[in-house]
Amino acid sequence: MSTDQVPTPHATAEQVEAAWKDPKLANVLYHDWEAGTYDEKWSISYDERCIDYAAGRFRIAAPWDGRPYEHAVELGCGTGFFLLNLMQAGVATRGSVTDLSPGMVAAALRNAEHLGLPVDGKVSDAETIAYPDESFDLVVGHAVLHHIPDVEQAFREVLRVLRPGGRFVFAGEPTTIGDRYARTLSQLTWKAATTITKLPPLQGWRRPQAELDESSRAAALESVVDIHTFDPADLEAMATRAGAREVRASTEELTAAMLGWPVRTFEAAVPPGRLGWNWAMFAYHSWQRLSALDAVLGRVVPRRFFYNALITGVKPR
Ligand SMILES: C[S@@+](CC[C@H](N)C(=O)[O-])C[C@H]1O[C@@H](n2cnc3c(N)ncnc32)[C@H](O)[C@@H]1O
Repeated sequence: MSTDQVPTPHATAEQVEAAWKDPKLANVLYHDWEAGTYDEKWSISYDERCIDYAAGRFRIAAPWDGRPYEHAVELGCGTGFFLLNLMQAGVATRGSVTDLSPGMVAAALRNAEHLGLPVDGKVSDAETIAYPDESFDLVVGHAVLHHIPDVEQAFREVLRVLRPGGRFVFAGEPTTIGDRYARTLSQLTWKAATTITKLPPLQGWRRPQAELDESSRAAALESVVDIHTFDPADLEAMATRAGAREVRASTEELTAAMLGWPVRTFEAAVPPGRLGWNWAMFAYHSWQRLSALDAVLGRVVPRRFFYNALITGVKPR
């Protein structure tokens, strides 16, 4: 393992001030701060539920014959959600995790060690990947492209570190139209939940004001780290200009996102654990049913209306 830089879980006021004008610094501070609680916040696990989810995204994005890629790298790995679950699904044999945030690389390596997976890691910017040319057979990423200032440069780097014929798969990117309705629904849910829980009979459902204020501050920093939303056609054009071939962007989640974002916002607005297991199951099964409906809607509704974009392509031989 090499996490050559030290995490900054508690940023100073000066660092936070500087981060407003520097999206990369904001990413490091925000994600170092989140690294310890990230899996819990996003219900990330390394069991069948998330293995199926990760492998499902991979299959939607790209053709796969079921044979493992020899060596895969993840950009913006976070705690390792995508690559570690893909490895458990048999998509890759060996892995490397990279992220701008040292706290996230350390968390991903800890998770890989617990799972007994052969994974190394480096703190690395996706615009200048810290591995030599032609190191990998597969490059993956989940919810990372929208944080990178120069996405086309990141695609060029992806193609540089891929071996000829190697593939990249990115999933979990917000579309421009999807982001608009997801944000609006989330803001309305936050407003409704934090207002209604001021009523005396519902105060047991209210989080302490200091915690709500901290969430609002974090949401403000989130607006600095969330740089892009994508039109699927533009995303394809960018990857193609960078030199990729067989480029294809697909999308998913329309009604599922319209449910999922308000649900996650409501969960964040009330005290942790208040909603219980039955709620978690209700939310998950509702999301699954709506995702099935969205798969049917995908045959008639244009792809740019769906919330999540996925993109794949290959390096020419
Ligand atoms: C929304 S999180 C997603 C984490 C993980 N892939 C997941 O899906 O759970 C985005 C991650 O990308 C990282 N990141 C942001 N900008 C980056 C960059 N320029 N290069 C590499 N990683 C970056 C952040 O530090 C963060 O860990």
